[in-house]
Amino acid sequence: MCGIVGYIGGKQASPILIEGLQKLEYRGYDSAGVAIYNDGEIAVQKYKGRLKVLEEHLEKKPIPGSVGIGHTRWATHGEPNDLNAHPHITTDGHIALVHNGIIENYTRLKEWLIEEGKIFKTETDTEVIVHLVDYFYEGDLEKAVRRAIGKMEGAFALGVISKNEPEKIVSVRKDSPLVVGIGKEENFIASDIPALLKHTKEVYFLDDGEMAVLTEKDIAIYDEFGQPVEKEPFTVTWDVSSAEKEGYEHFMMKEIHEQPKAIRDTLSPRLNDRNMVEIEEFNLSREDIQRIDKIMIVACGTAYHAGLIGKFAIEKFAKIPVETDIASEFRYRDPFVNEKTLFIAVSQSGETADTLAALREAKRKGARTMAITNVVGSRVSREADDVYYTWAGPEIAVASTKAYTTQIVAFYTIALDLGLKLGTLKEETYHQIIKELLTFGEKTEALLQYKKDIQFLADAQFNNTSAFYIGRGIDDAVAREGSLKLKEISYIHSEAIAAGELKHGTIALIEDGTLVVALTTQDRLYDKMLSAIKEVKARGAYVIAVAKEGNQDIQKEADAVMSIPDTYDELTPILSVIPLQLLAYYIAVARGCDVDKPKNLAKSVTVE
Ligand code: F6R
Repeated sequence: MCGIVGYIGGKQASPILIEGLQKLEYRGYDSAGVAIYNDGEIAVQKYKGRLKVLEEHLEKKPIPGSVGIGHTRWATHGEPNDLNAHPHITTDGHIALVHNGIIENYTRLKEWLIEEGKIFKTETDTEVIVHLVDYFYEGDLEKAVRRAIGKMEGAFALGVISKNEPEKIVSVRKDSPLVVGIGKEENFIASDIPALLKHTKEVYFLDDGEMAVLTEKDIAIYDEFGQPVEKEPFTVTWDVSSAEKEGYEHFMMKEIHEQPKAIRDTLSPRLNDRNMVEIEEFNLSREDIQRIDKIMIVACGTAYHAGLIGKFAIEKFAKIPVETDIASEFRYRDPFVNEKTLFIAVSQSGETADTLAALREAKRKGARTMAITNVVGSRVSREADDVYYTWAGPEIAVASTKAYTTQIVAFYTIALDLGLKLGTLKEETYHQIIKELLTFGEKTEALLQYKKDIQFLADAQFNNTSAFYIGRGIDDAVAREGSLKLKEISYIHSEAIAAGELKHGTIALIEDGTLVVALTTQDRLYDKMLSAIKEVKARGAYVIAVAKEGNQDIQKEADAVMSIPDTYDELTPILSVIPLQLLAYYIAVARGCDVDKPKNLAKSVTVE
């Protein structure tokens, strides 16, 4: 969490830092600040609240200067207030820095630094770093930063400036993301690529422990021992518009609409010219696959929900047992993992701390590991043995949408491939499913045409205080995702429950007008769902059903129906989640919520 930026060049730093921070606000948005070198001094402005507050202050009291660092915060240590906001600066004002990450041994370091006479003003772990760098500073900023990080345990990406060496920014990372943007007569650092795209598409990804020293004309990179490193620049293929709203009111709505393209972009590179799955990045032979006795899918939040669909698809098509686990639980339960386990980590950002820790734990136990991620060069992509990129493009809204649907596409292709190689899936079925998947770009486009109908439903339901999402089989997994979408952006209490479980307790909560969203897309389980709908309706629930179009019967049973195009039962999740995303979106808008930046959340959760 938290976003950092840095600029050094011939232009005014302040607007460049602010624009960069705007693109990183998804990473945290409870306070923001900048530190800019000007005329022999470092000037700092930092304020509690959204970036807008900082912008307003900078308009009234601009800071000139062409070297600076900026930060947007998601508080971990110390409440969001002006003092705890970054950048942090030494007592004498000669070193300022921004930090993304967590310093785990900060209490010990703080006690020691206090003994050494340093005076602390904030409750943050970051202030320890600034005092440490100051403690080791003897006229060489790189050296001081290197010695400081030698004392630090935890995760960090840092941007550091000093008024004694104003011609440089020193930047270093470990377990927190950092990209260096290569400009002409100007250079940049940022936590993520969108912050740089307006200025450059050429970037360096720093590896753990690496340090970049940026001057106006040059970027020097060093390894953890201070030896120079030659790095290949990476050219970003997406353009600025991918990180802009392009006329949509919110990124979430834009990203919901990008799903048809994202689904095609994830699927097509994995199909050869005979429409057979070929996953270059994941080339397991039949023998390799036969050695696997279990697959474990581990992730958090929405990515975990995609993993539930992955389990279903792999067990169905490839007949390999699959366990799913929430990453934060996996690492503490000493799971049965060994060389025969294929471990799949799913993470949009590729930097979620719990998912990363679970991946490391699985590797330690000898599993073959694979990452399904959207972010090129991300932590999990570097650490897993194989990487499957979902080419969904940048996802900026905190609530995940297109990442989820593309993760599901990834799982279908993996399940089909495994199934064909193992002979557990008939060739005819394999081809039918791929043919059907190829229609999903069109089918999702068609589905989006009905958004006004869903808005109409949302406008009637936005005042509800709680909601229940029910489903059976694969619909149960989609219900969980629908429920998460609603609660995280609308703040309505919402719960997902397997429909058959209702009568074991939860039905006690159903009363007049309670909103129940019932997924009824599984033909085999339809009658069972109907019974559940009747049970909740008998207790006064208002039922919105998600059903395959052409299902006339459901019109009589539910109060309202959101239809999806007909498809095989196994493939419905990609379609059935879209009305749920739209319902959550419109309810949140009707309640006046900040859809893209829900309270208390941040897009990437790099803390445990
Ligand atoms: C919800 C949401 C989160 C993420 C979760 C994992 O809309 O976005 O639940 O899915 O924090 O994030 P990644 O996929 O980046 O590991």
